Order: sequence, then structure tokens, then C-alpha cells
Amino acid sequence: MVIPTPPVLISERQIQRKVGRLAARISADYGAVDDLLMVGVLKGAFIFLADLSRRLAIPRRVDFMALSTYGDGTTTGAVRLIMDLRTDIRGKHVLVVEDIVDTGHTLAYLMKTLAAREPASLACCALLRKLDRKKVDVDIDYLGFDIPDVWVVGYGLDCADQHRTLPYIGTVAPGST
Ligand code: PRP
Repeated sequence: MVIPTPPVLISERQIQRKVGRLAARISADYGAVDDLLMVGVLKGAFIFLADLSRRLAIPRRVDFMALSTYGDGTTTGAVRLIMDLRTDIRGKHVLVVEDIVDTGHTLAYLMKTLAAREPASLACCALLRKLDRKKVDVDIDYLGFDIPDVWVVGYGLDCADQHRTLPYIGTVAPGST
């Protein structure tokens, strides 16, 4: 089966430059912290977390959570926890790492859930945000790019589980692979 190569929305070079800048900001902001825990949201954030974590100049650990929305997540906003952290975050400095904030339901649920566990601090970093799709307000402390309301793949993001390992962010027609 031949899968067409998606056209580029954000190039590998643009992504890597942005990841470097985000890593520099985070390293400066958490310079006095020796126990930063980066929480990647599976599956989409696995590549962004891998690149970002390796470019930090400060001590850090990583853990993961997996969430899913019921239906397409746009109507009810109901989010389900599929896999929880292995780490007890009470008293720790936590940075959530997301690939994309679309309606905002997933990140809002995650921040509320993690805040209830009483970390020393809680912030989030998202590579992409679709402002046109916003349903709930959620603060993003470190943001890579605002993008238009198009279906994006690559750098961890998928369409029917295809294209996650593309090194750039590309676009596909809705429903296609
Ligand atoms: C994507 C993305 C975010 C969420 C954002 O995950 O990784 O977690 O959607 O959407 P929202 O802002 O509308 O809540 P997805 O459900 O596609 O799962 P995946 O990361 O496993 O591909």
C-alpha cells in the first residue's frame, strides 16, 4: 500500500528551532529546581517529549499518561484516563507536555486532575494549538505554534495511526490516511 506524503505545514527545521527555544526558556525558568518531572501525554506527545527533554540543561525525569476522549471530544468533552503516572507528584515540580491543544478538554482535565495531587508547581508545554477549535479556556505556559483548523499529522500526531513518525508537521484531508 502506498501512503501519500502529506504536504508540509511546519518543517523539521522550524520545529527543531522552536524546540530549542522552548528548552532554553524551560531550563531558565526551572534553573533552581532539581526535581522537574516532565509528563508526556500519549500517544501524540512521545516525539516532542523525547526531543524537548533531551535539550533541557537541567535535571529532569519523565513519566507518561494516556487519555482518550469519548467520541470526538468536541461535544461532551468527557475525557477518560487510560494509563496513569507511575510517579507520586505530591510536592514535585510538574511540566505537562502535549503535542496539540485542540478543544482544550484533554489539557483542562489533565491539569485539574494533576493539581488535585498537590504538586509543588504545575505548568504545561504544548507544541501546537488550534485557537479556532477552542471550547474551554486553558492556560498554556510554553507554546510552540498556533495553527489553523486543519488536520495535522507527523512529529507524534496521527491520522488513523498513520504518519506519527514523520519528522515534520504535515496536513491531510479529514478522514484520509
Ligand atoms: C490528541 C492530542 C491531545 C488531544 C487534544 O490526542 O494528543 O491529547 O487530542 O484534543 P482536545 O484539546 O480536543 O482535548 P488523541 O485523542 O488524538 O490521542 P493520541 O495522542 O493517542 O493520538
